[in-house]
Amino acid sequence: MNILITGGSRGIGFEMAQCFAEIGDNNIVAISRNEAGLKDLKNACIRKNVQAHLYPIVFDLEQVSQYETVLLPKIQQFLPHIDILINNAGFLINKPFESITAEEALQMCSVNFLAPAQLTRILLPMMRKGTSPHIVNISSMGGFQGSQKFKGLSIYSATKGALAVLTECLAEELKESKISVNCVALGSVNTPMLKEAFPGFTSPVSSTDMAAWIVNFAVTGGKLFNGKVIPVAITTP
Ligand SMILES: NC(=O)c1ccc[n+]([C@@H]2O[C@H](COP(=O)([O-])OP(=O)(O)OC[C@H]3O[C@@H](n4cnc5c(N)ncnc54)[C@H](OP(=O)(O)O)[C@@H]3O)[C@@H](O)[C@H]2O)c1
Repeated sequence: MNILITGGSRGIGFEMAQCFAEIGDNNIVAISRNEAGLKDLKNACIRKNVQAHLYPIVFDLEQVSQYETVLLPKIQQFLPHIDILINNAGFLINKPFESITAEEALQMCSVNFLAPAQLTRILLPMMRKGTSPHIVNISSMGGFQGSQKFKGLSIYSATKGALAVLTECLAEELKESKISVNCVALGSVNTPMLKEAFPGFTSPVSSTDMAAWIVNFAVTGGKLFNGKVIPVAITTP
């Protein structure tokens, strides 16, 4: 399978790439801004499977205007088509609504909503050539309608809610194609993001367990689900 994961340098993305490396002869492209993190990922994948094909791409997903000119050619260097796209990269600033600057809000909108939307758009031709292609958008319980909300996460949660709605809309728009689009709304997971945003809080869910679940869903779920927003949370938060 050919797989593209955004945000592979740490956290859930780092673990998901290793799962894909371990389970078979997969070609995995991982995108992040951090070259050292992606180098660590490549080494970790090789430790899991000496035959692992992990292709790192150092790119800032906020640079939406460079997707077609810079990012797409880099992806096409490694993958002729895409079977699984996991829009996982995320950015969170935990701050009261009144204190969030326009720049901070824009950064969360760019990484959490605009980037997955635009990346999906430019990759659709490559996905149409895939086998049972599946797009998995990583959202949050904060962006799940009717869920308990938490102070400090207003803009972050709203961007994740937008990603969930985009998923439902895209499934409708792409229903004549063989591409499935789903969204998983995660509860808390122990990752660097959680540690930085909520120092001192520990989640009962490890990034390895969550990554293994998402990888299994990405491989098998596209045949059973389309346009669904699925909560994956054992506790609140
Ligand atoms: N952890 C949780 O409790 C939790 C709960 C609900 C949902 N989620 C969601 O799950 C996903 C993974 O979260 P995580 O906890 O693993 O986060 P994390 O530890 O902060 O990792 C985030 C990843 O996104 C990448 N990223 C961020 N901004 C980027 C940019 N501008 N360009 C390219 N890559 C960028 C980071 O790479 P670089 O910094 O190297 O660029 C990193 O690899 C996110 O979408 C998050 O919102 C997490």
